Amino acid sequence: MKATRLADEAELDGLLLFPGYFDADRQQELLAAVRGVIDEAPLYTAHMPKSGRPMSVRMSNCGPLGWFSDERGYRYVDAHPCTGRRWPPIPDMLIALWNDVAHYSDPPEACLVNVYSPAARMGLHQDRDEADFSAPVVSVSLGDSCLFRVGGPTRSGPTRPYRLNSGDVLVLGGSSRLAFHGVDRIYAGTSRLLAEGGRINLTLRRVTRPQHAAHRAAEAHHNG
Ligand code: SIN
Ligand code: FE2
Repeated sequence: MKATRLADEAELDGLLLFPGYFDADRQQELLAAVRGVIDEAPLYTAHMPKSGRPMSVRMSNCGPLGWFSDERGYRYVDAHPCTGRRWPPIPDMLIALWNDVAHYSDPPEACLVNVYSPAARMGLHQDRDEADFSAPVVSVSLGDSCLFRVGGPTRSGPTRPYRLNSGDVLVLGGSSRLAFHGVDRIYAGTSRLLAEGGRINLTLRRVTRPQHAAHRAAEAHHNG
């Protein structure tokens, strides 16, 4: 499928949109898989590190690692903060998506599930809790459309608004990997995919640096 490059600036090279990557049937299929994830790993409310303020977006994860935040900071954890159980595996459809668009040697380790009520939003931030920024962030939108904002590598720089619709895939790779981004608002009632309304975002990320055979051999040699 053809990707649209969203901006001409060199600093947003690698910011790609695949409009309607998932058609209506595939969105239903993906939604069923996501509902399965949430059944196993219930949604929780994360809190801002310093203020301890609750985030308006509720979250869950699948994959070996999951993103979590509380007063102690942002981090990846290998088990659900409330149930203590390991996160369920990343659904095959999302692994296939990663293989199709990420152009990266290794699989994703975390898939954050963000659930937005119509009133929820997400402030401008960078995704920088990962060890390897050479892997892109691959993000899927389901349900109501949203107003997504992307800036550059500094918080104070100019930003641009984009509308993300159900089934769209956005890739933040290359020099856009550390671009500030956020969700200004949800356009309630723009999709009928979610019976409860609102929006679900799925964000695939590589967290650790891959340990390839060649690296391992070199390290073993180096460490004597
Ligand atoms: C995020 O940055 O974690 C979520 C982005 C989105 O909801 O599209
Ligand atoms: Fe993000």
